[in-house]
Amino acid sequence: MQLNIALLSGDGIGPEVVAQAVKVCNAVAQKYHHQLHWKEALVGAIAIEATGNPYPDETHEICMAADAVLFGAIGDPKYDHDPKATVRPEQGLLAMRKKLGLYANIRPTLVFPSLLHKSPLRRDLIENADFVVIRELTGGVYFGDRGRNETRDKAWDVVEYTAAEIERIVKLAYEYAMQRRKKLTIVDKANILETSRLWREVSQRIAPLFPEVETEYLFVDAAAMRIIQWPESFDVMVTENMFGDILTDEASVISGSMGMMPSASIGLHTSVFEPIHGSYPQAAGKNIANPVGTILSAAMLFEYAFNLKDEADIIRKAVDASLEHNIVTVDISGDAKSYSTGEVGDWIADFVQNG
Ligand code: IPM
Ligand code: MG
Repeated sequence: MQLNIALLSGDGIGPEVVAQAVKVCNAVAQKYHHQLHWKEALVGAIAIEATGNPYPDETHEICMAADAVLFGAIGDPKYDHDPKATVRPEQGLLAMRKKLGLYANIRPTLVFPSLLHKSPLRRDLIENADFVVIRELTGGVYFGDRGRNETRDKAWDVVEYTAAEIERIVKLAYEYAMQRRKKLTIVDKANILETSRLWREVSQRIAPLFPEVETEYLFVDAAAMRIIQWPESFDVMVTENMFGDILTDEASVISGSMGMMPSASIGLHTSVFEPIHGSYPQAAGKNIANPVGTILSAAMLFEYAFNLKDEADIIRKAVDASLEHNIVTVDISGDAKSYSTGEVGDWIADFVQNG
């Protein structure tokens, strides 16, 4: 197959981890006789520096023309420390999500048998944890009206959802649950928020269309607690944008390192595949960042964007093998020898090709 992939490395450790995923994709392409065509584009702080815009039109055109986007990370402390900055790298990410219509962010929580001892949670609690959070990505407080009053001593951020926005993501979550263990947890704060009550209303209309799926409603505070206390109780979870942002960071530590977690964002136009971690500026340029989250995002890319399941599986198998052989970066090596970002990428690419 001909696969056209836009490459948006972004900021911080983005370029280093994306380079490893590219190595692995190229190895997959060679093994399975695909032609990969990479097209690089700017996003984030690096795009602001070059063009003044964190998601330039040219980048958007490249993404629209591609079959899939592989994305690294964005963010730069320079902007975090300047609350008055009017243009921020994160706006590039939000603009990309909105303009590509990426309303569903799929974040699996994976547990790796050889890393169980790295988790802050007890082995018996997490051994069989295997759930996916489906986060709404183009609505809610991230995109609502925000502002200050004239004296600037009052601020607001508005949460808004339409029934249509809720319906499409809840339907997608039910369809996803049908492919898995057929349990859907709908997370909200319906005891307080009107938007959450609309989520429930819409969800209750959709639930009867999927009679085989067991539906559960859970308040977000209780969900936060249960992720730690009893993660095995979840299969598919669906929630609004901000709750999903918070719960997926929480869920990512179950595996022992946030650096391991991939994600796929899908919707109206080209899908985007990216690790859930940020730009980790303290590690940028040091060749120490964990590339596995991005490499596993590339696995999701083969599976979701091209329906190439064997290609996705070989990447996952190679990652598992690297963990079993302790070919890991410093965030998970503990007292044992650690490998650089590039060495881990090389090892996994080599396994794909020869393993
Ligand atoms: C994420 C990140 C982003 C978000 C930031 C960088 C804007 O935390 O993808 O989870 O909040 O969505
Ligand atoms: Mg986040």
